[in-house]
This record gives sequence, C-alpha cells and structure tokens, in this order.
Amino acid sequence: MRTALWLWLSLSLSLLLSAAACDAGLDTRDPVGDVGGDSGDDTGANALPEACGYTPMTDLDPADGGVEVDLRASAFAWDPGTGVPIAAGLAFNESVPGPVLEANLGDRVRVHFTNDTTIDMSLHWHGLRVSPEMDGIQQMLGDPVSPGESFEYEFTLVDGGFYWFHTHMNTATTIEAGLYAPIIIHVPGEVAPDCDLPVVLDDVLLDEDTQQLAPPDTDMMQLMGRLGTVLMANGRSDRSIGWTAGQTTLLRLVNASNARYWDLRLEDHEFTVVGSDGGFLAEPYTADHVVLAPGERTMLVVEATGTPGATYRLMNRRFQLHEEDGDMIEYDPMGEGENPVMSFVYDDQALAGSGWTQPTPDVPSWTGAVPNLGHHWLLEEDMMGGTVTIDGASFPDVPMVEVMTSVDTTFEIENASEMHHPFHIHGNRFQVVDVDGAPPAQAQGWKDTFDIPPRTTVTIVSELDNPGEWMYHCHILEHADEGMAGMMMVGM
Ligand code: C2O
Ligand code: CU
Ligand code: CU
Repeated sequence: MRTALWLWLSLSLSLLLSAAACDAGLDTRDPVGDVGGDSGDDTGANALPEACGYTPMTDLDPADGGVEVDLRASAFAWDPGTGVPIAAGLAFNESVPGPVLEANLGDRVRVHFTNDTTIDMSLHWHGLRVSPEMDGIQQMLGDPVSPGESFEYEFTLVDGGFYWFHTHMNTATTIEAGLYAPIIIHVPGEVAPDCDLPVVLDDVLLDEDTQQLAPPDTDMMQLMGRLGTVLMANGRSDRSIGWTAGQTTLLRLVNASNARYWDLRLEDHEFTVVGSDGGFLAEPYTADHVVLAPGERTMLVVEATGTPGATYRLMNRRFQLHEEDGDMIEYDPMGEGENPVMSFVYDDQALAGSGWTQPTPDVPSWTGAVPNLGHHWLLEEDMMGGTVTIDGASFPDVPMVEVMTSVDTTFEIENASEMHHPFHIHGNRFQVVDVDGAPPAQAQGWKDTFDIPPRTTVTIVSELDNPGEWMYHCHILEHADEGMAGMMMVGM
C-alpha cells in the first residue's frame, strides 16, 4: 500500500515536472523550425561561442608514457539543446559525448571502467586494432560488465587518427541515450593546428510533446533505422564555436547516429579532406560536401577564410537511405531540405595563418582486388518479413567467415537490398579498392566502416594482421541489434 502510494505520488510529480519542462521547451528554438532560416540570424542566441578546441580526460599517471583514465557510465539527464533534459539519458563521466580520450601512437592505454548503470555493458573501441579480449564482443557474448562492476580495458595503440568508443550491448538504445565519446591519437610529425576540434554528430528522436526519447522499438524503425528530430554537434543542437580569420582548424567528425547519414557543408568555406577512419590520407583532396555514414570518421582542414564578425553554419543536407525509385517511402523528421548543425562565429581579429600541413602517412595501397578472396557477403532485406540479413541469416546464425592472418585478402560486400548499409568490421583495417567495377573516386586510406549503397558491390582488401574472432555488422544500430551481424575468424 505504502509503495503503491509512493509510486503514485512520484509518478504524478514527474508528470507535473515534465509538463513544466515541456512548457519551457516551447520557448527554446525548435531545430526543425530553423530550416531555411537566413544565414547567421538565428544562431547562438542563448550562448556565447565556445573556444575552439577540446579538453581531454585526465591522465592519472602522466609520467609513465601511457594514458590511464577513469571512466564511469551512469544515468545522467542531459539537455540536447531543447531546454528539456533527457530523463533516460546515460553518459560517460556525466558528459555527452563522453570526454575525449587523447593519446599518442604507441601508448599503452588503461581505462578503469565502472558500470554505474542498471544494465549490463561492454565497451568497444571502434576502429582500433586491440585484442579480442578488449574489443567488447567477448564481453557482449557472455561476460558483460554488470551493474556495479568494474573492468580494466588495456591495450597498446597501433593506430593513429580519430576514433570513438561506445557501448556494444543494446546499442540502438544505449548509444541513443548518450554513451559515446571521441578518441584522438596523435602520430609522430603531427603539429598542433591553430585549433583541433573533434565533433561527434548525433541525432535523437524526441517525442514532440514530452521532448523525451521516443520508444525505440517500432517494427518500422527496426527496418528503416531511427532518424532523429534533433541534430546535435557534441551533444547539443545549439553549439557555436569562436573563430578568428586566418586560423586553421582540424575538424574531426564522427557519425554516432543510430541510422542517419550526414551530408555536410560549411557555408562559404571549403574542406580539405585529410583523413578518414584510419588516420591521415596519403593524398588529401578538396570538397565542398562530405558524407558520413554511421560509424565513419573524417578529418577536414578548414581555413578560416570568412569575414571577421560574421557567422557561418555547418549545414546538413537530407540523405536518402533508400534508393530513389524504390518501393519504400522514407520519412525524415528533419524534412527534405538542409538543417543547421552548429555555427562558427568570427571575432573581429585576423591571424596571419599558420600554414599548417598534415603529416603524410605511409599508407600502402592496393590498386584493385588481390587474388585471394576471403569472402563474398550478401546483404538482403525482406520488406514483407521485416528483416535484414547477412548471407541469408541473422546473428548468431550467420555462418562464420574463416580466413588466414597476415595474408592480403579481398572481401566483397554485395548489397542486394534497396537501402544503404554502413558495413563495419572489427579488429582489422581495410581499403576500398572497387565500387561496382570502378575504383573509388577518392582513395580513403584505411577504413573500418564502408557505405554499401543499394544494389552495389563494394570490394575491400586487408592485410589481416590482427588474428582473432571478430564481429562485423551493419552500423545502423537498429539493424545490428536485430541481427545484421556475423563473426569472422582470422586464424593463425
Ligand atoms: Cu562502432 Cu561494432 O561498432
Ligand atoms: Cu568497431
Ligand atoms: Cu543495415
């Protein structure tokens, strides 16, 4: 009786609270309402621009030539920029995204992880070639970090560049709730640019009335992926960054969205693409738009060529996941046009310009497939049955792929469905050598996540230098959770 009354009281209290919060939410800007707004008018109304840069996690033992950090996952209500905290939010170290894990190539990393949530967890270091024991999959498949428990992740960094870590159980729910963070690994010869700015891109799907996370599990969403109503840069819809004319920014972008592909441009600025999933590119190139599939990263050099005092917005253009003339009508709650993601606000100063250049990596590259075919994957979608499959099955029934370590190996990924799938492989790194019979327009260096367009076959090659049993999966998290995943044994 007592419990029931208490429950009733707290329920009505939280209803009252959320009603009040909802009213407050109406006063804040509605991200969708910004569509088509004129450049610069509606940005940063409620905030001063932040300094360009980042604060890494504290190294507990700076003397030892490695990095040692404390990481704690817990419930944490965070404000995506709507003015209404997300009550079901989760966070690393009470921050969304979690704080930047910063290290140098070759460092030994030790992460003292504590799970202070109420759900089982495993952590995955997306893109890093760690050992199978540290990759999060063995834990996910049978030995998770339970509520209240701790685990020490420990690995040596053999990859430089820009990566991220996230939970690897119930990913569609836990990553949506906020459990993700960037990783920056500096390489020899890398000089600090005027500004080094990691930006984690994400969208959340909020209920219109409560501004809380919408239930994650409709059948439609499982099939189509969960597209959000709020676009966020580093956990907020209203970020603005202070810039000075003439400065050079290294913009490191990661797509942490459940399903959204981002197609980005910065008003009146050009990008130089200098890096991708696995570090710097051998041949940088300029672009005015970049597309990022879920899980992918890009590193862009942006010269501040704008006018002192002016504001420029990073804009995201609608990316259609399904083929244009297919059977599915795809609805994006952000609308069909462009939406602002964040803004860059120039001060009145001007710098001479640092003339920063990226270090040039020694990336061996294949010009086509190598003779040794490791596997041909087939991605399919059964619209009627509402399932997405790999090789005709769903995890854990997808047959194991078995290949040999340290042998250059080709893999083909054939997408027979009418939808894009970002295909991600753990544990090893790859290069895309062919897309439907032609080399990719621009070499992307080392990759771990590849967009496979509808009805397209992408060919990748790897040296497979990291033995173990590795998971691969679609990085549309609804698809991954639903079983669009398998295991690959890279044997000795
Ligand atoms: Cu980014 Cu298996 O995950
Ligand atoms: Cu991964
Ligand atoms: Cu998929």
